[in-house]
Amino acid sequence: MFRTLRPAAQAEAVTITYEGRPLSVPQGISIAAALLGAGEMVCKSMPTSGADRAPYCLMGACFDCQVLVDEQPTPVQACLTPVRPGLAVRRVPRPTPVPEGVAHD
Ligand code: FES
Repeated sequence: MFRTLRPAAQAEAVTITYEGRPLSVPQGISIAAALLGAGEMVCKSMPTSGADRAPYCLMGACFDCQVLVDEQPTPVQACLTPVRPGLAVRRVPRPTPVPEGVAHD
């Protein structure tokens, strides 16, 4: 569905992982572009409905591209974060629902 305008041979490739799977992607592109180019469409699920979300605006406005990188607990916007060698990217897990009757903040 997505492809780069530049022939891949012109860009140096770096290896990142997505959900533990290695992906060879052009250096200098965003994580979102790398995932879309690799056919990986889902970054996270909505906490309430569980609906899958994918990069949409590609300019930092929608937050639908949030992913976790390198064991960091806070998600980053994949469209604003460049790839680098060895980057480990994971989907944002859906939060566990709070059981009925349990008070929460
Ligand atoms: S795709 Fe919209 S914020 Fe990244």
